[in-house]
Amino acid sequence: MNNHNHNNNHILNPFSPQHPVQPLCFADRKDELQYFKETARNSARLDPPAPLNYAILGTWGQGKTSLLYKFRQIVLEELKDDIRCVCIYFPLSPQVCQSWDIFCDSFLRTVKSTMNSTRKIWPKIKVEIEHWEVGMDLGVVSAKRKVNSGTTSLVDALQSLWEKILKPSGTQIAFVLLDDLHYFPIKAEESAYLTLRTTFQELVNRKCNYSLVVTAPSLLFSEIAETAEPVLRFFKRFDLKPFTFDETKEAINVRLKVAGSKLIVDDKVIEQISRKTEGHPYLIMFAMFELLTLTRGFSKIGIDIFEKNWPRIEESFGRSIFAQKFQTASDKERELMIKIAESRKDLVSPSDIRGVRGATELFSRLEKKELLIRHGRGRYRLFHPMFAEFLRKIDMSYNNQS
Ligand SMILES: Nc1ncnc2c1ncn2[C@@H]1O[C@H](COP(=O)(O)OP(=O)(O)OP(=O)(O)O)[C@@H](O)[C@H]1O
Ligand SMILES: [Mg+2]
Repeated sequence: MNNHNHNNNHILNPFSPQHPVQPLCFADRKDELQYFKETARNSARLDPPAPLNYAILGTWGQGKTSLLYKFRQIVLEELKDDIRCVCIYFPLSPQVCQSWDIFCDSFLRTVKSTMNSTRKIWPKIKVEIEHWEVGMDLGVVSAKRKVNSGTTSLVDALQSLWEKILKPSGTQIAFVLLDDLHYFPIKAEESAYLTLRTTFQELVNRKCNYSLVVTAPSLLFSEIAETAEPVLRFFKRFDLKPFTFDETKEAINVRLKVAGSKLIVDDKVIEQISRKTEGHPYLIMFAMFELLTLTRGFSKIGIDIFEKNWPRIEESFGRSIFAQKFQTASDKERELMIKIAESRKDLVSPSDIRGVRGATELFSRLEKKELLIRHGRGRYRLFHPMFAEFLRKIDMSYNNQS
């Protein structure tokens, strides 16, 4: 081990893949940020209101929640001298999305604790919101008493919030941020998606300036298109792409800098990480976390150190990510994925797979689980080449056992 490569000071490992990135360490997404800033400013000032709504779409771990956090920080802090706004951040869950009424109830109950505003107007809002108990109770109670009254009560409650508190406190626009919209069932009797659009359209119609920002897997919007197409037109969509080399480099270096680390990661190493992960943000963070754990104490990571450690990082990928993803599939789906990996083709159609009954249905189920990604009509690939590699190894170990 070279001494100049080694540093006895404890170096913090800032690459935690499990959490969305905090705005301070946020990297790239320049186009999305630029567009959002411009239009948020515009929406805040328009009178009568006509705010834009936004949908952040991408596959798992692509950075949807991170961008949502960043949007919130932009309007609350970066644009604090331009606009006065309120953000209501509400992460959805299967429980909350069981029915529209349950959603309205939970949303209104937590509004107080999930609300932030531009610092200047916060003291006034904070005092006023204490008296809003009445308005909120009305909404919540009526949602319980009458079946299907959730929509009316949510519109009424948010209108009351706007007219009694937000507008008088100087708020120009209120952003409602809903994370993980796909938890609303798509085939429920009543489409929550259409109801959401009706609600926010009606609020603007009543001159309440609410802008809706949601995140969801890309596939949700294709599914909604079949049953509730107007919902798609209601949003400006941002389709998140993987990071390029430069963006990967920025994401890595900004975290090191914020953590106060002097660690140098060679460009060749970043290039390898970018290539192996294909710029997938979650996988980049995972690779970096493992790399730093394995090379603790080094002040510089060059390509030879990286290559020596990569097999162990790859093992961790298998154990911690791919094995878990694999387990979400049924036996037949697993068999199909292994066949796809074995074929080594970049794109595969159901008709290419021999000896598996009902392949078309299995393809579509695997797409819903984000294990297969569709590229054009009826053509698919496994969600990541490293996952394909993992599947080939499983196949080999089965074959060796039998
Ligand atoms: N713009 C970014 N800059 C730096 N790191 C990012 C960025 N976007 C995402 N990441 C990192 O990638 C990982 C996944 O991000 P995030 O949780 O936001 O994705 P997601 O699409 O919301 O995932 P899920 O599908 O699990 O909800 C996190 O570790 C996060 O820190
Ligand atoms: Mg998320």
